[in-house]
Amino acid sequence: MEIVIMPSAEHVGRFAAERVVRLVARRPQAVLGLATGSSPSAAYSELARRRAKGIDFSRVRGFALDEYVGIPREAPQSYFSVVRTEIVEPLGMDPSLIRVPDGLAVDLEAACAEYDAAIAAAGGIDLQILGIGGNGHIGFNEPTSSLSSRTRPKALAPRTRRDNARFFAAEADVPEYCVTQGLGTILEAAELLLVAQGEDKAEAIARAVEGPLSSFVPASVLQLHPRALVIIDETAASGLRNSDYYRHALGSEADRWV
Ligand code: F6R
Repeated sequence: MEIVIMPSAEHVGRFAAERVVRLVARRPQAVLGLATGSSPSAAYSELARRRAKGIDFSRVRGFALDEYVGIPREAPQSYFSVVRTEIVEPLGMDPSLIRVPDGLAVDLEAACAEYDAAIAAAGGIDLQILGIGGNGHIGFNEPTSSLSSRTRPKALAPRTRRDNARFFAAEADVPEYCVTQGLGTILEAAELLLVAQGEDKAEAIARAVEGPLSSFVPASVLQLHPRALVIIDETAASGLRNSDYYRHALGSEADRWV
């Protein structure tokens, strides 16, 4: 795992976006794994700025990480809507090339198996963008998720429902279930890029990076991946015991190191 500590959340976004741009320049039909939430939003905003400067995302394919169960696609809280308004439209992606797990399928298990099959049929994910939950989840793989799990329905942890209540009128409105790419699915991506900012993520980052591999800290599964890059700001890095050991990067100079 490679850990890069950036001076600010904005730098995290710029640095993460640069990795995506480099991939797309090399491979215009690249397959991206798309996380939602606050963590990657600075990266998506930067990608939208790069689009304005001429980077073409119109042939890039995408698979979202997760979706709530039971929320209509048009509801603003659905990840289908979030992916559309925060990623697909600002980046000028082709909506027909973007998939989000179906949280409304009558047979959720079958829809999840079909989702994994669609990822495989696309040739696999080239670059999986990830955030991390305060409880160490990636996607919605909550603590105790099997480290080899596939895309599947899952119950949301109480902490996740509390953390995501900010997107809903009340905590009680946050769905209890979701569908999420599994940890095994995520591990199959050619490259993983996890972004985190802020004190709230410091403990989860420390446990994922420096703790033992454990299903209680699903993000620790990144330790098994040969190309996992963790880009965090100083506050998210504040729980790391060995922070001198990792790369500290400063703004545009960071480019030299990637
Ligand atoms: C959402 C996802 C989640 C989030 C995580 C952090 O698609 O994959 O794992 O990345 O819950 O959410 P934020 O960034 O909103 O704190």
